[in-house]
Amino acid sequence: MALSKDLPIGIFDSGLGGLTIVKAMQALLPEEDLIYFGDTAHLPYGDKSPELVQSFALAITRFLLSQPVKAIVIACNTASAAAAQAVAAVAGEVPVFDVISPAVSEAARHSRNNRIGIIGTKTTVHSHVYRTQLSFALSGAHIVEKATPLLVPMIEEGWLHNAVSQDVIDAYMSDTGFFDIDTLILGCTHYPLIKNQIAAYFEANYPNPITVIDSSLAVANAVKAGLTQNDLLRTQRSKAHYQYFLSDYTIHFQAAAKLFLEREVVFEKKEVF
Ligand code: DGL
Repeated sequence: MALSKDLPIGIFDSGLGGLTIVKAMQALLPEEDLIYFGDTAHLPYGDKSPELVQSFALAITRFLLSQPVKAIVIACNTASAAAAQAVAAVAGEVPVFDVISPAVSEAARHSRNNRIGIIGTKTTVHSHVYRTQLSFALSGAHIVEKATPLLVPMIEEGWLHNAVSQDVIDAYMSDTGFFDIDTLILGCTHYPLIKNQIAAYFEANYPNPITVIDSSLAVANAVKAGLTQNDLLRTQRSKAHYQYFLSDYTIHFQAAAKLFLEREVVFEKKEVF
């Protein structure tokens, strides 16, 4: 089937953190219809094997393609690290956007001293996908990768500004490897919610002014550029239509979603596996 501008964009994540990307896309591309799929039955992806994450990502991709959609956004760093190529192979002519390459380009553009830090889930960090892509984008770059797994449940609990969250942020950011970086990539969908707290830690404890790369903005810009390039950008309409699917539903997801999207949404439960 030929792709049409009028089709929705499909977006998926392991759960609700991908809503930070949805929020950025809704702001930048208000005319576009969106179908969101959160794999809440299988979250977190961040400590699972790349093979398992890839099998989930492919099942979700097939569901989104069946809607159909004109583009797919992998709004999850762990799924992007484990499955971007496999998703693109299954998607065929449907353009696929992941969250890693836009953040890498932004980091390469901002860094002045070529010393860049990355924080993310264990599976993302152990894939070294950021290191690999940054080494291509910025030859001679010094890259410090750190898994920061406690940040995801902490943020989902809504602990962004209390004594515990401050201690956890301090404990992770006090890594001496970060001492003289000038750019830090937030390599996880959840981390934009504590961007200011992380920036404040660097300001108070390290010598360099720091640029914190929030991939949600970078991804929304990359999607806009990619749709324009493929002549798939929707430019005029009255009101966009949004659908939100989850593979498992509890009332608790409602509160977490509000944290990421800053408004209430209606979820539909969908079995795609
Ligand atoms: N969405 C995941 C990511 O960006 C974080 C949550 C999870 O581990 O599933 O890596």
